[in-house]
Amino acid sequence: MLSPGMLCAEDIGRGLEVRRIGRRITVLSETESTNDVALADDGGEDGLAVFAEYQTRGRGRLGRRWSSPRGASVLCSVRLLDCPRTAQSSFGPAVLTLAAGVAVCDAAASAAPDLSPTLRWPNDVVVNGKKLAGVLIESCWRPGGRACAIGIGVNCLQQRGHFERDLGGLATSLEAESRHPICRLTVARRLLVELDRWLADPPDLTALRQAWLDRAEPLGQHIHVRQGGDDFLGTTVDLDPTAGLIVQLDGGGRRAFDPATTTLLGSTHIGRTGP
Ligand code: BTN
Repeated sequence: MLSPGMLCAEDIGRGLEVRRIGRRITVLSETESTNDVALADDGGEDGLAVFAEYQTRGRGRLGRRWSSPRGASVLCSVRLLDCPRTAQSSFGPAVLTLAAGVAVCDAAASAAPDLSPTLRWPNDVVVNGKKLAGVLIESCWRPGGRACAIGIGVNCLQQRGHFERDLGGLATSLEAESRHPICRLTVARRLLVELDRWLADPPDLTALRQAWLDRAEPLGQHIHVRQGGDDFLGTTVDLDPTAGLIVQLDGGGRRAFDPATTTLLGSTHIGRTGP
């Protein structure tokens, strides 16, 4: 079932019990990228959530495009102010990536209870092996401190033909996978509640690590990653919420891969479990 029309700020915010994320909500019918709105000079207060029905220049990670038919997705960016740049911080990029991934998983599952969305490091949410949602964290200096945008795109109502051919059957939507009618409003509201749960205060990193691992593809995968132009092969052994994914390298030694700077090029499950 399609949502009965556009998302609307009043509906998203009605009775929403949040302390920080989504205290103010804007819904745009069209914009270049909600991340740009969230990072704009006049981008408003901390915790502002910007939704759009359509993006003309939606961005994905690594300079990729993120496109979606009008009204088919939940496209949202949340503005956080005073974000430290350092990785080892409560609101650093690695922590924001993990918190957003957990929040997206739970928001998606709330709208489609027959699905079990899974996190694929660093920040993809997948269902039945296909990408359902992505997270793009961006930041810039603003008067008064560093502003950060947590940009989230959740495919909701797309049918199979809606995805660009170069995605080669690798993308999907809640509607395509679930037997339930999908309500974008449910996804949008739950997304803000879950983001607020993790980010209203500095998150409990032990709990965040566990929440992420509980929703993630199992550790013990053999992966191929690229960081700073170098390729690495190894086996995933743990997750450090501020440093990233800990990998036992094939060539010896362990290394942490920061989600903000690493690309996953391939992975194979080899049946080992986590710590
Ligand atoms: C990815 O490559 O997986 C990240 C995709 C992030 C897309 C979202 S949609 C809302 C926000 N605005 C953007 O331009 N990008 C993010």
